[in-house]
Amino acid sequence: MSAADKPPANEPSSFAFNEDNLKKAAAIVSKYPEGRQASAVMPLLDLAQRQHDGWLSRAAMDYIADYLGMPPIRVYEVATFYTMFNLKPVGRHHVQVCTNLACWLRGSDDVVNVCRNKLGIGFGETTADGEFTLSEVECLGACVNAPMMQINDDYYEDLSPETTEAVLDDLRNGKTPKTGSQIGRCSSEPVGGLTSLTEVAGSPEAAKATKSAKTAGRRKKEDDG
Ligand code: FES
Repeated sequence: MSAADKPPANEPSSFAFNEDNLKKAAAIVSKYPEGRQASAVMPLLDLAQRQHDGWLSRAAMDYIADYLGMPPIRVYEVATFYTMFNLKPVGRHHVQVCTNLACWLRGSDDVVNVCRNKLGIGFGETTADGEFTLSEVECLGACVNAPMMQINDDYYEDLSPETTEAVLDDLRNGKTPKTGSQIGRCSSEPVGGLTSLTEVAGSPEAAKATKSAKTAGRRKKEDDG
């Protein structure tokens, strides 16, 4: 949400951390040196957002400013800069599609179209039943597994139109979709499988590879010396 967006009409007039979050906030702030408590602004905004159904009211931002002894404008600057902070209510599932370069080159337009058609909403909108909000976001740091989208705290990567649809269907039906790569690769391994360090730890092949590496290292040392 940009600073230009209007806040919701019926914003709550007050906010305060609950008991549990007061303890968490104190623990977070204690990680920073005396006089540097303002550095805790992002984790505290995140804490406030999680307590407040996934979005930050003006009252919540003012509370954080007061808690950290910061001018409120400094907190607004942070909250309006990062798309991870929502300044108006969002649906139960916040679908954030990355359309930055790597994802775009790898088909994020298709992912966006599926989301639009399936949910019947555009960017910045929430379905009438309050279940889904659709947002366009910049790079989420998972370019190697592009295209991808984030839904609440989970990443869904290596998406195709079909797998995007399946993820949304699962959520709609109360199921828990598989997170991470949707084509089954582990983390960010090459799509075609491992190309180096292919020996299984502890196997004879691995022992042989270790021995050859040691021998090569010793020879190089002798040559250099
Ligand atoms: S460009 Fe989409 S995660 Fe980086």
